[in-house]
Amino acid sequence: MSALALLGGPRTRHAPFPPYPVIGEAERRAVLEVLDEGRLSTFIASPGAQFLGGHRIRQFEQEFGEFHGARFAVAFNSATAALHAAVIGCGIAPGEEVIVPPYTFTSTATCALMHGAIPVFADVDEETFCLDPKALEAVISPRARAVIPVHLFGQPALMDELQQVARRHRLRVIEDCAQAPAATYKGTRVGVLGDCGVFSFQETKNLMTGEGGMLVTNDASIAEIARLVRNHGEAAVSPGEARSYKAEILGWNYRMTEFEAALGRCQLRQLPEQNRARQRLAAHLTRALGGLPGLRVPPLREGCEHVYYVYPLLYDASVWGIPRARFLEAVGAEGIPISGGYVKPLYLSPLYQERRAWAFRAYRGDVSYAEGICPVAERLHRETMLLIAVVRPPATEDDMDDIAAAIWKVWEHRKELT
Ligand SMILES: Cc1ncc(COP(=O)(O)O)c(C=O)c1O
Repeated sequence: MSALALLGGPRTRHAPFPPYPVIGEAERRAVLEVLDEGRLSTFIASPGAQFLGGHRIRQFEQEFGEFHGARFAVAFNSATAALHAAVIGCGIAPGEEVIVPPYTFTSTATCALMHGAIPVFADVDEETFCLDPKALEAVISPRARAVIPVHLFGQPALMDELQQVARRHRLRVIEDCAQAPAATYKGTRVGVLGDCGVFSFQETKNLMTGEGGMLVTNDASIAEIARLVRNHGEAAVSPGEARSYKAEILGWNYRMTEFEAALGRCQLRQLPEQNRARQRLAAHLTRALGGLPGLRVPPLREGCEHVYYVYPLLYDASVWGIPRARFLEAVGAEGIPISGGYVKPLYLSPLYQERRAWAFRAYRGDVSYAEGICPVAERLHRETMLLIAVVRPPATEDDMDDIAAAIWKVWEHRKELT
């Protein structure tokens, strides 16, 4: 086998991996139709204020809701906005606690701070990388009002166990499905297992509209509050009626545009096939890495469908004999995009360490953000997590073979890296 690229040998792969997202003809036509029609948002069109947005937005909401078997779907301009609305819709009060995993994107936790509530971090489980039900139970205080499980990297969280704890302690459950659209848990698509679910359509996501988000729920009150929060808190008006400018509650401008809705409708139709393609590529890569010591491929769980927003591997430096950083350097030099760690557990950032949000001023509890509170997340970040983002169409099985070949090559030559 040729020498490692890091040590002057030839690279396993020269060509870049195919870019994502792919904008198809259907998306192009759908966006042009919006331009031709000339109504880009329609939330504040006159005469006759449109509290519920333009016709594409409403169609997208209806289709997204039906796809999930949810009574209501409310479109937003991001998942962060939808999470904020979910916290308000679930009736969480300032000063109350919202339990979240620390190993996730920042807004899973900041959505609580935006409403004056306090994120409390509970550790993740090493199998799924999602919230650990035992860790959830251990951090519940009398101030706890909600939990936000995250279906991380496309893998559904341990929802039955989490829901049992939530029910025992009367916690509202907001699912963060940003990375797992159409992933299934025991046959049900994530998002409708808890009180409400939130999705992201940001450009890197499995279903993308550039920016965008959606809240789904079967709870009419959450849906109603979400629509108000999205639209300056102004009350609904029937089509044709004059706009009142009367704010019922504190609201923001979290509205989606018709462009995003047009893209979203196209992307939703393609989502099942796109996810199946991700699953085929992931299965191929898992087979190609089969038998490689010191790397744990993503486990398949009975009754769950992983949709591989990214493909996570666990690295064991004691088997490889080289630190993770050295492994990453060597695989990267072979022409393979791979990264380590994902996010630093959120509580370790200055926002929490120095309590840099107004919500902390009025808080009377004793939440801890000390290093060591979530050892599994800290270890994943520091030592063991590897992520490959290109396990998605338009990449092909040949691309997966290149990834596996590079990793096997580094394995064969690992002793030269010590
Ligand atoms: C788990 C998770 N939650 C929330 C978000 C926020 O999504 P958005 O960028 O649409 O606000 C993201 C985005 O990356 C995410 O990965």
